[in-house]
Amino acid sequence: MLSAALTNAINTQIALELSSGYVYLGMAMWCAENGFKGAGHWLQKQFAEEQEHAFKLLHYLQERDAEVKLHDIPAPKAEYAGLKEVFEAALKHEEHVTASINKLYELAVNEKDYATQIMLQWFVDEQVEEENNVKDILDSFKMVGAHGGSMYMLDRSLGSRE
Ligand code: FEO
Repeated sequence: MLSAALTNAINTQIALELSSGYVYLGMAMWCAENGFKGAGHWLQKQFAEEQEHAFKLLHYLQERDAEVKLHDIPAPKAEYAGLKEVFEAALKHEEHVTASINKLYELAVNEKDYATQIMLQWFVDEQVEEENNVKDILDSFKMVGAHGGSMYMLDRSLGSRE
């Protein structure tokens, strides 16, 4: 039986994953409005990934016969100063998610809940990947600078995300 504390913490994480998706959707809408089609596509894919993360946790609660409680999702930020700021905000957001996953893992360790620790291992690995993906994009910004033509190429390359 999953403890009440872990059930609550996983429900909170489900809300964070869904609100992460919403944050990325807000960024995707900003990109669409500002002509960054490729980045908008990349961010829409990220929106879908975050929903998958939420479902992984949701199904785990169901498997453990624990109650799923859906929380309110706040409206995402709609305005950004530029494309670089979008990805800087994305990195900050992922660092926040990583901290939350680590706290959840710590709780599972303290409670000696081994099944939850194994389930969360996937999320620990995923966060390393998520942060790295955004850092790679930010590195590309450093390389191309604010040059219009290079920005166009960078936006196009983001559009190839599958
Ligand atoms: Fe589900 Fe981007 O963390």
